[in-house]
Amino acid sequence: MARLLPPDAATMQQAAAALRRSELVAFPTETVYGLGADATSDRAVARIFEAKERPRFNPLIVHVSSMAMVLRLVQWNDLATRLGMAFWPGPLTLVLPRKPDCPASLLCSAGLDSLAIRYPSHPAAQALLTAVGRPLAAPSANRSGNLSPTRAEDVAESLGSAVDIVIDDGPCKLGLESTVVDLTGPVPAVLRPGAITSEALAQRIGSLTAADGGTADMPRRSPGQLESHYAPRKKLRTGATEVAPDEALLAFGSMPLPGARVVLNLSARGDLGEAAANLFAMLRDLDRTDARAIAVMPIPERALGEAINDRLRRASAPR
Ligand code: TXA
Ligand code: MG
Repeated sequence: MARLLPPDAATMQQAAAALRRSELVAFPTETVYGLGADATSDRAVARIFEAKERPRFNPLIVHVSSMAMVLRLVQWNDLATRLGMAFWPGPLTLVLPRKPDCPASLLCSAGLDSLAIRYPSHPAAQALLTAVGRPLAAPSANRSGNLSPTRAEDVAESLGSAVDIVIDDGPCKLGLESTVVDLTGPVPAVLRPGAITSEALAQRIGSLTAADGGTADMPRRSPGQLESHYAPRKKLRTGATEVAPDEALLAFGSMPLPGARVVLNLSARGDLGEAAANLFAMLRDLDRTDARAIAVMPIPERALGEAINDRLRRASAPR
């Protein structure tokens, strides 16, 4: 079983040593918990794919704790400077061309010539990265396709014995994954809406395109954006305006629909930040009840609502 350890100096040393031996360590970030591996070790990165049962075509985000580390990995550009200055450290992932001598395992890129980079702000993530002194590949610490973990217990539940050490620093503040922006083309493209809103990005760099699903001769730009993803075990439906007695209700706002068997409210005061932080944890908790299915009330599409609705749409997609 996974061991939950406190985010103190002794843990960081123990975790860093494990990572240098190409073992996996789960750690908190401000978005969700990540399943970390030494990004420069093929063996370590391969273990991530095994532990998560993740398709090999889905590339990984590489986490760093200094700009010096970033500049060894990818070819930097002006747009990256503008976004990095505005949002790093923080919940933004930038996809950039790999440097020819990039030390990250090719497995992180899953056959692409780009690499996704994130500089997290969470103190425990930074402490771990500094202790290892190497970039860490880290997807969300759940089995592929399942709900992302926002608490250390969720990691243990989802991955079980596939990970030995989980650094436990309580619930993640933001609760939604980072926004992934592709800067390899002529126009920046949002590959995955996330904790940084499109409005905030547009303020810094003007126009942005949303990546579409791709076509036969033009593959989707983010391999991870499979239609069904982030899925609870129970059936889930969105935009509910009424609820059946055997359904669990995930409410939003001051007027939860009447009649559900169990009710959790993403935010009684209608706050989208609070709703984002609660989303995955509440879905997990409702998934554990004896209700037949989960009904989710409508969430406004503005600000963080865009990313929340993206996750809910995937959670409700046919599997
Ligand atoms: O908040 C987060 O981003 C969390 C924490 C742990 O940092 N990580 C995370 O990783 O959500 P993951 O693996 O669950 O999602 C990474 C997403 C996937 O959709 C993947 O396809 C995309 O980023 N991605 C990674 N590298 C890419 C690349 N080179 N080109 C395009 N998309 C990439
Ligand atoms: Mg994930």
